[in-house]
Amino acid sequence: MTDASSAETLALQVNGRAHALAVPREASLLHVLRNDLGLNGPKYGCGLGQCGACTVWVDGVAARACVIPAHGVAGRAITTLEGLGSREQWHPVQQGFEDAQAAQCGYCLNGMVMQAAALLAREPHPSDAQIRNELSGNLCRCGTHVEIMTAVQRAAQLMVAKDADS
Ligand code: FES
Repeated sequence: MTDASSAETLALQVNGRAHALAVPREASLLHVLRNDLGLNGPKYGCGLGQCGACTVWVDGVAARACVIPAHGVAGRAITTLEGLGSREQWHPVQQGFEDAQAAQCGYCLNGMVMQAAALLAREPHPSDAQIRNELSGNLCRCGTHVEIMTAVQRAAQLMVAKDADS
């Protein structure tokens, strides 16, 4: 839990829900998401904005929660992996990763999925180069890059098919 002794009230919008929390001025968004709200989709990797494990969306744009002060995003729309899909209905990117079996240890998956979903929201038909460029800042130590490419391509197909059905 956050030490409330030096905390200030923070109004945070996360996955469509409003929260009022006592949060120190210096707390990162990642710290608040994980430790105060129990949202463990975003992972702590480097803590320096360099690995992508902590990726969330801020107003629909992928961002590194470990280097964002929580008070700096008051009132903005924060989306975490938990808000992307549900256990009952996965987001097409989650389905794409499942279909491609694109996980080994799984630690990078939050960032890969959130970053890839942000790309597909902007660009439904990305080229391989666009996918590689989008995910170039998301590190995977296991070396599942080939499967990850397949997963994002599969997700793009699923999203196009879903749009055609609706
Ligand atoms: Fe945030 Fe590595 S933990 S980028």
